[in-house]
Amino acid sequence: MAFRGPECYVDMEDLARARGVPPEKFTQGIGQRQMAVVTPCEDTVTMATLAGREALDAFDIDPDEIGTLIVGTETGVDHSKPVAVYVHELLGLPATCRTFETKHACYGAMAGLTSASDWILAGRARGRKALIIASDIARYGVGTPGEPTQGAGAVAMVVSSKPRLFAFDTSIEGDYTRQVMDFWRPLYSKYAFADGHYSIQCYLDALEACWEDAVRTAGGSHEAFALSELDACFYHVPFSSMAKKAHHRHWEVELGRRVERDAPESGEIATSYRRLVEPWLSLNAVVGNIYTGSLFLCMVDYLRRISSEREGRPVSLFSYGSGCGAALSVAHVSDGASAFKEAVDPGEHLSGRRRLGIEEYEQITRAAESADQNEAGEADPSRWGLAGNLYYVGTVDHQRRYAHLG
Ligand SMILES: CC(C)(COP(=O)(O)OP(=O)(O)OC[C@H]1O[C@@H](n2cnc3c(N)ncnc32)[C@H](O)[C@@H]1OP(=O)(O)O)[C@@H](O)C(=O)NCCC(=O)NCCS
Repeated sequence: MAFRGPECYVDMEDLARARGVPPEKFTQGIGQRQMAVVTPCEDTVTMATLAGREALDAFDIDPDEIGTLIVGTETGVDHSKPVAVYVHELLGLPATCRTFETKHACYGAMAGLTSASDWILAGRARGRKALIIASDIARYGVGTPGEPTQGAGAVAMVVSSKPRLFAFDTSIEGDYTRQVMDFWRPLYSKYAFADGHYSIQCYLDALEACWEDAVRTAGGSHEAFALSELDACFYHVPFSSMAKKAHHRHWEVELGRRVERDAPESGEIATSYRRLVEPWLSLNAVVGNIYTGSLFLCMVDYLRRISSEREGRPVSLFSYGSGCGAALSVAHVSDGASAFKEAVDPGEHLSGRRRLGIEEYEQITRAAESADQNEAGEADPSRWGLAGNLYYVGTVDHQRRYAHLG
């Protein structure tokens, strides 16, 4: 696994001051400290490629070993051409590698991950590995309720029959689909439309339905994934405090009844949250919402703090994509996973980011609106002070161009 995101961020206290909101609403109520911001020269392709390259390099995997590449995203760059095919070229993957994009809001990469494991289980991989990359830009627009829940980044994961980090338990799988209008982004809009409070309800209802389905697949018992047995619960994290709401519902479903926030049992829920969820939210709190990748960013955070005693322990994963589609899975930490804690840690990348003033962030947001128009000139790395990486450098003859600079 590896995470890579953009080179700039906004501090949430700066944003709160600029919007005339008490900073505690963003830092405690929503639970975010910073949010990653893409310049017009960073897009789904550049972030996916950088994360993919990091995953291959850090785990010493030859690109020729990759037989499937899937990019899960809800920030496509073309109605027809998948982000994955640009990434395929930029990573130098073999021509025999099947390559495609998956979309179902924030659930898209989870769908890609299960497809990849099915490909391996069906015996079609013939010893090869799959590269799954979740890459997204969360954009709600300046001054909207969703603005403090923006972010951007990519998590890359290599799936193989001999997993070095997590092994999925394929006997437990809860699935759920329902057509709801909680969040969507029409083809003509760069910005998402969201019915934010309704989306939280849809998320929690989907969690409950997935848990019930997982119990059915596990033979009628939740014993194998009881909260008391788990070492961590990873949830989709559109903003950090959503994970607290999710864990509360998870606990209620297991208990079989609702628990009010101030009821005596809520102390136990808080203790469980502090053990199983909160320790792995620190990357989400400084990156913001990365849609498809946000669940997997918690797993990266878990891995970078892992000790050998955690090897073999079960963990749960809940993926929610608005619209909506969701899944609950269980995995076990692989033996030897703790040897990779430094390899997965994106700490150095994150500490190298540049803090933007609010005026500059708003200027970047305006420029992003027209960056994809043919030969617009917004995607000029020197204009945004960028060098030393892979960048989107605009379109020529309606064709996207990418360049390594520096
Ligand atoms: C999440 C979202 C709905 C919040 O919008 P909002 O109406 O501006 O914010 P709220 O008034 O609900 O406040 C958010 C939290 O901060 C808390 N809060 C408000 N002011 C506060 C303050 N001064 N100090 C501390 N906490 C504060 C609220 O109590 C609330 O917490 P709670 O949900 O635990 O009760 C909005 O950011 C959004 O639409 N996001 C995009 C959609 C999304 O992410 N959906 C998630 C499911 S996929």
